[in-house]
Amino acid sequence: AQRKQIDKVLALFQLSREQLIGVRDKMRTELEYGLKKKTHALATVKMLPTFVYGMPDGTEKGKFLALDLGGTNFRVLLVKIRSGRKSVRMYNKIFAIPLEIMQGTGEELFDHIVQCIADFLDYMGLKGAQLPLGFTFSFPCRQTCIDKGTLVGWTKGFKATDCEGEDVVDMLREAIKRRNEFDLDIVAIVNDTVGTMMTCGYEDPNCEIGLIAGEWSSVTPLARFHMTLLRSDGGHCSTARGFSKGTGSNVCYMEEMRNIELVDGDEGQMCINTEWGGFGDNGCIDDICTQYDKEVDEGSLNSGKQRYEKMTSGMYLGEIVRQILIDLTRQGLLFRGQISERLRTKGIFETKFLSQIESDRLALLQVRKILQQLGLDSTCEDSIVVKEVCGAVSRRAAQLCGAGLAAIVEKRREDQGLEHFKVTVGVDGTLYKLHPHFSRILQETVKELAPQCDVTFMLSEDGSGKGAALITAVAKRLQQQEK
Ligand code: BG6
Ligand code: GLC
Repeated sequence: AQRKQIDKVLALFQLSREQLIGVRDKMRTELEYGLKKKTHALATVKMLPTFVYGMPDGTEKGKFLALDLGGTNFRVLLVKIRSGRKSVRMYNKIFAIPLEIMQGTGEELFDHIVQCIADFLDYMGLKGAQLPLGFTFSFPCRQTCIDKGTLVGWTKGFKATDCEGEDVVDMLREAIKRRNEFDLDIVAIVNDTVGTMMTCGYEDPNCEIGLIAGEWSSVTPLARFHMTLLRSDGGHCSTARGFSKGTGSNVCYMEEMRNIELVDGDEGQMCINTEWGGFGDNGCIDDICTQYDKEVDEGSLNSGKQRYEKMTSGMYLGEIVRQILIDLTRQGLLFRGQISERLRTKGIFETKFLSQIESDRLALLQVRKILQQLGLDSTCEDSIVVKEVCGAVSRRAAQLCGAGLAAIVEKRREDQGLEHFKVTVGVDGTLYKLHPHFSRILQETVKELAPQCDVTFMLSEDGSGKGAALITAVAKRLQQQEK
């Protein structure tokens, strides 16, 4: 009888082929809405023009600064590109953004960013250098050109005040002015999906889609090491307390200009940042939402928003697992019916743990050890159930993400009138990189739901900072040609 109750809960996460096709088709509808003038304002998938018109062609060169804000780590980078393909050298430093800054005032956030840039320039011996800068800013921005971006709304773990509706490039410029120590030429603002697509596009000309399947994580040991270095340099950007942040789920792709009603001109292509994390905000996938999804949504910083992101990105998967475990315990099916304080604690299940628990090589005894580390005292049966719960939640995430991606590649295939469409997707994000099954299930689902598309996945090894530098190089060249 107990088994039946557990299976009933797990079954809520098992999506049938029909349900997945439904998700694919609804995503397709939303993509079209977002592109059309008439429906754009109300669209849940925002389809934001990026003013990136094409891939790097290998002639880019120069020295660039890049910022990478909004993923697990905040990075400042120096990127040196030599013309002649693939000759890119990068130096980067990872900085912490303390929780109180992520959720403080906009001015504080941007002052902090500029402080980190100052530390980096100091460290690299570059004080006074006037370098062009590309700003990877992984949040939805409405752009009218490559170097302007109005923040539509914060997502993930950020909630700094006085930024929404503002041009974040201006906010960065003003913070640089306030500091009055150096001058930087901010050339481009770039979403992380776009940076990822560019990074991969530099290697593979078939790459015209960028995907982020990110995670919620506290700072990695490597980052901690970098920050220790920084502290000994006398930097002010490191803080030890509670600075976990996270990335979400999003895709960008190259779209035909003639389909982008919001931007004048019909020739060529432009990259669209879909912001598909907002898919479902109008209730269109409520039929597959569970009570656990609702609980996670209600407990989040942006309740009612980013519903699809909350089902597909690592930042929230652990929370879904925790909600299920609480419910199963309440029903007396787990942990001897005792809901511990630990289990009540938000954020205990990081992607890292989910990935470990689901690793096939891990014996159940080790799963118990992990649970013990989390302060959850489990029996052998408990550990089996926990593993099943993690599997069901991450499997659904990968399938949903695959259904969304199938909608995009199918659209591209049809738009070009092709029988078969071969495309490469550049991917970044810890969930994709770390989880033992996520990438495989994602790929299988795309294959199943878009059988006429031949999709290759390419891991972005260098992060989106490199892509931001490439975009900056192109934008700078165009700027100079115009002069
Ligand atoms: C990084 C990119 O490598 O991946 C970031 O440089 C991006 O721009 C991030 O936001 C997403 O991954 P993660 O590790 O935060 O899940
Ligand atoms: C969130 C952001 C989006 C970003 C994604 C991955 O969905 O809104 O801009 O690309 O997270 O970091």
